[in-house]
Amino acid sequence: KKLMIAASCALALAAGTAHAQDRNLRIAFDVPYEPFEYKDDNGELTGFEVELADAMCEEMQANCEFVIQAWDGMIPGLLARKFDLIMSSMSITAERAERVLFSEPYYNTPGGWFGPNDFNTDVTDMDAMKGKTIGVQRGTTMDTFVTENMGGIVTIKRYTTADDMVLDLEGQRLDAVFVDYPVGEQTVLTKDGFKEVGEPVKLGEGVGVAMRKRDKDLANEVNAALRTLKNDGTYDTIMQKYFNY
Ligand code: ARG
Repeated sequence: KKLMIAASCALALAAGTAHAQDRNLRIAFDVPYEPFEYKDDNGELTGFEVELADAMCEEMQANCEFVIQAWDGMIPGLLARKFDLIMSSMSITAERAERVLFSEPYYNTPGGWFGPNDFNTDVTDMDAMKGKTIGVQRGTTMDTFVTENMGGIVTIKRYTTADDMVLDLEGQRLDAVFVDYPVGEQTVLTKDGFKEVGEPVKLGEGVGVAMRKRDKDLANEVNAALRTLKNDGTYDTIMQKYFNY
């Protein structure tokens, strides 16, 4: 009995001195954004980035808390220290990189065009697109793209959440949506009567973890953890679970 106590004390001591063991990190997700982050039928937070975050935290030996944050408050929330990392399919852009520190990219996603089967307009033909109503999630790279390239030509409807946008597409209040490709593939193409209506558009330099500028050590650790997960096959296993390719 005495020996047992001594052994467990030693264990606790070892754990206490382990590297970064008692560090807490809060990670923000905007849901639903299937397959990246969403709630399953039991209300549990799940998805590609949620599992990747889990694996990353284990690799970094950090206690992680997952926080739900609306997309339009992501960067302000990070800067206000509501959480420490964003893992919400945030594309790496020069404009965002002025405010946050990005990890190396861990995924690539182009913007995809999705609409009903009877949509037959060339989305790159601005004359033909005149008067169409297009849905985007507010503050995304897709929003920036349509605002810059189609402003004044199409009517842009901006949504706080991606699922409200898809609901409006289903309710025929939109002609088409422009959304991260895998999201459209899994939330629009899985419904009857919808198809891809244009070529995918490359936006940003991949998707990265976003952190505060001064958290350079954290960024180094995140990059090291991501590399380990890529090398040991964990990344591929998670990826194959959530994507069809
Ligand atoms: N990739 C796009 C961007 O960076 C959209 C990301 C939206 N993510 C989300 N979880 N709602 O702007």
